[in-house]
Amino acid sequence: MKRIKIFDTTLRDGEQSPGCSMNLKEKLQVAECLEKLQVDVIEAGFAIASPGDFESVQAIARQVKDCTVASLARSTEKDIDTAWEAVKDAADPRIHLFIATSPLHMEYKLKMTPEQVLERTAAMTAHAKKYTSNVEFSAEDATRSDPEFLAQVVRTAIRAGATVVNLPDTVGYTTPAEMQALIAYVLEHVEEARDIELSVHCHNDLGLAVANSLAGVQGGATQIECTINGLGERAGNTSLEEVVMALRTRADVFDAAPRIDTTQIYRASKTVYDIIGQPAPLNKPIVGKNAFLHESGIHQHGVLANKKTYEILTPESVGIRTNNLVLGKHSGHHAFETRLKELGYDLTPEELSALFVRFKALCDKKKTITDDDLEALVRHSSRVEEDESGYKLDWFAVHTTNFTTATCTISLQRGEEKFEAVCLGDGPIDAAFQAIDQIIKPVEHSFEIFSVNSISEGKDTLGDVTVKLSAAGKSFSGRGLSTDIIKASIVAYLQAANKLMRHFSREG
Ligand code: KIV
Ligand code: ZN
Repeated sequence: MKRIKIFDTTLRDGEQSPGCSMNLKEKLQVAECLEKLQVDVIEAGFAIASPGDFESVQAIARQVKDCTVASLARSTEKDIDTAWEAVKDAADPRIHLFIATSPLHMEYKLKMTPEQVLERTAAMTAHAKKYTSNVEFSAEDATRSDPEFLAQVVRTAIRAGATVVNLPDTVGYTTPAEMQALIAYVLEHVEEARDIELSVHCHNDLGLAVANSLAGVQGGATQIECTINGLGERAGNTSLEEVVMALRTRADVFDAAPRIDTTQIYRASKTVYDIIGQPAPLNKPIVGKNAFLHESGIHQHGVLANKKTYEILTPESVGIRTNNLVLGKHSGHHAFETRLKELGYDLTPEELSALFVRFKALCDKKKTITDDDLEALVRHSSRVEEDESGYKLDWFAVHTTNFTTATCTISLQRGEEKFEAVCLGDGPIDAAFQAIDQIIKPVEHSFEIFSVNSISEGKDTLGDVTVKLSAAGKSFSGRGLSTDIIKASIVAYLQAANKLMRHFSREG
C-alpha cells in the first residue's frame, strides 16, 4: 500500500475563516491533538499576517516534536523570510509558498503575465530553499489553470527546489474525475513530479472536497491537505476525519494508508468544535451524534443480528466510547478520578481536587453525571483563565415574562469593590449584558459568536455558552458552563469583556 501524507491546515486555512479564530492557548491545544493524531504536517499559520500569527506559528514550531511544522508565505522575499523566522526552531520546519496560476487570478489579482509568474516561482522557491530543504510550492487555483501552463509551473518549482507541489482546488470548482485526470496529467508530463510529494488541497464549495481529494489519490497524489471538522475558507476544506476514514475503510479501492491514529479523531474533533463554540452537526460523518445511531426498527434488528449489516466502521475505531458510565452524588473521589483516567485525562492532584468540588456542586443540580458532563467540566476548567484584576459575578436576579420587558439586576465584584446595575432588555440575557456594560463600560465591540449548546440530554443538562467579542480586528472569547444558561451566559460574557478591557487598557 502506498503511504499517504496528511497535511493538516486547521490552524491556517481553518482558523482564517469567520467565527473560527483561536487564541494562542487554543492553537497550542489543537496542535497537541494533531500531534497525537500523528498527522505528517501541521500548517501552523500564515506568519506574516500579524504579530499574533507569527507568535503562534513560532510557539507551535517549538512545541511540536513529531510532525513537520509549516508556515504559509506568498511568493515574496519578505513573506518567505518571516515564515522561516517563525518555523526555524521546529524539529522539521517547512516553508509553504504559493502563487496563483489561473488566467483569472494572474490577470485580475496578481496583475502579472504567465511569464512573470514562472519567473517568480523559480526565484521565490530558490529563495525559500536557501533556508531549508523542506519547501512546498502551491499553484493557487490550479484546477482552473491551463494544464500545460500548470505543468510548466510545477516543473519550474521542482527544478528550483520544491520537494512538495500542491495543486489546490481553491474555489471548490472541480469534480472527482477532473481532479484525478489533472494529477495524472501532471505526473505524465512532468517527469520530475514523480520523485516528489504531489499534494491536493480541496475546498468544499460544491460538497466535493473529500471526493476530489480521494480522486487525487487515485490519480497519483501522495499528500492530502485537510482540516479537522472540514473548517476552512467559505464552505471549508476536506475534512480530515472523513478522508482518513474513507482511506481506511476502503483501502481495497485506494490502496493507500495514512499514519493517523484514528482513535484520536473524536477527541480532536471535539476539541476544535469546543474552541469555536459549536457542536458537530447531528449528521456529520464520523463525529456527528447520529453517525453511529440506528433508529429505525429494521436497522436495529439488523445491527442486533450482526453489526456489519449497517455499520461500515466502528465508533471505537475513531475513539468514541460506547460504555458511557454514569456517576452521581454518591460517587466518591476514587470513582471520579478513575473515570477521568479512563477517559484519558492525566490531571494533577490539585486539578483533580478543584474539579471534584465542581463535580459535587453539579451533582446537587443534576441527578446523573455522564462522561460528556465530566469532559465538559475538564475542558471548561482548562479554558478558564483566572483574571484577578477583572470583574466577577457576585449575584444576579432576572425578571422575565412573555408580556413585559425583561429586567436584570446584577452585582459584580472587582477586588473588594462591588458594583450594582439594573437594566431592561430584549429578554433576560440582553438585560444582563446591558447591566454588565453599564458597570464595566467596555470599548465598542460586536458579537462574533454567542452560542448556547447543551452538553447532554435532558432538561437538567449543562448549558455550555461561548461568547466571542471582536473589536479593532481582535477576538476575545469567554466560556460559561452551568445548568442555568443565564448564569453561564453572564460568566462567558464577563470573561470575554474582561479580556477586551485588559487588552485595550494595555494599549492605552
Ligand atoms: O485554497 C488555496 O489555494 C490555499 C493555498 C494558499 C494553498 O489555501
Ligand atoms: Zn485553501
